Amino acid sequence: MLDKIKELQKEIEEIAVKSAEELEELRIKYISKKGEVSRLMEDFRNVSPDQKKEVGQAINILKNFATEKIRVLKEGLEEQASDSKGLDLSLPGDPMKAGTRHPISIIKNEILEIFKRLGFVVSEGPEIEDDWHVFSALNFPEEHPARDMQDTFFIQRNPDILLRTHTSSVQVHDMETMKPPIRTVTPGRVFRNEAISYRAHCMFHQIEGLYIDEDVSFADLKQTLLYFAKELFGEKSEIRMRPSYFPFTEPSAEVDVSCSICGGKGCNVCKYTGWLEILGCGMVDPNVLEASGIDSKKYTGFAFGMGIERIAMLKFGVNDLRLYFENDVRFLNQFEAAN
Ligand code: DAH
Repeated sequence: MLDKIKELQKEIEEIAVKSAEELEELRIKYISKKGEVSRLMEDFRNVSPDQKKEVGQAINILKNFATEKIRVLKEGLEEQASDSKGLDLSLPGDPMKAGTRHPISIIKNEILEIFKRLGFVVSEGPEIEDDWHVFSALNFPEEHPARDMQDTFFIQRNPDILLRTHTSSVQVHDMETMKPPIRTVTPGRVFRNEAISYRAHCMFHQIEGLYIDEDVSFADLKQTLLYFAKELFGEKSEIRMRPSYFPFTEPSAEVDVSCSICGGKGCNVCKYTGWLEILGCGMVDPNVLEASGIDSKKYTGFAFGMGIERIAMLKFGVNDLRLYFENDVRFLNQFEAAN
């Protein structure tokens, strides 16, 4: 009997399996109720009393050994199954969740594309500026309120350094570094010391436009902006210009576009006027041309500036400016998928 036990022990030691079915067969063969080990137990009855102790111990050892071996084999098979799952190259890939483009970027790109079609090139400039580029070169008088701490973020240790309050500052860089004809559109972040509310923020985005050449006229400005409005808000759009004041343009105007929501009939978005204000513009003041070294006798130009948030609010029907800066994915996911 001891020989039989030894034999079985050897057999079990050598077991190797490839599948769970095979293992199950072996489990039944060795350790089930009708298996080899149970049969040994039955035969144990016939063992002579002087051998009982030794044989009993050997059967127990064999039984534990077989049970353990089967357990280890089973674990090995399970591990293999989960490993190979990760390596199956024929499985479809996990879909990658693409983000969505930020609504401000969508509108910014759309606006830039329109002006690029007209021959404008994109220029950019620094967000941290000096007084010259933000104010002085743009003809801001000394006492202008924008130069006040209340409206502008100055760097405490050096009041000549500040966060730009508008992208018009890049006009100055462009005029300093380029030769006419100059046709630039400049997107960027601007900063103002404003209390944050649904319609104002201390940081927002603008696009500035500048066109300088010989014989640029107010008619060119008007036609350019009409084309822009039709491209952005639809073919039926119209614009109207209202006289205004900016230190860097003369004459200056504010531009309204016919309300694309009610078609000009009047609704709560346009406050029942049929018009929406979208930008400021004008003919570049000769003082501004001269300050940047451009001959104002030879060249004239127009400039315009618009807030991207405001236009995005109109296009997307967003009624709270703060939503753009909170990065709530429930808000952001509603816009075009990035491509
Ligand atoms: N810089 C002005 C602002 O921030 C916008 C503006 C108005 C820009 C008229 C211009 C312009 O270039 O001609 O409110």
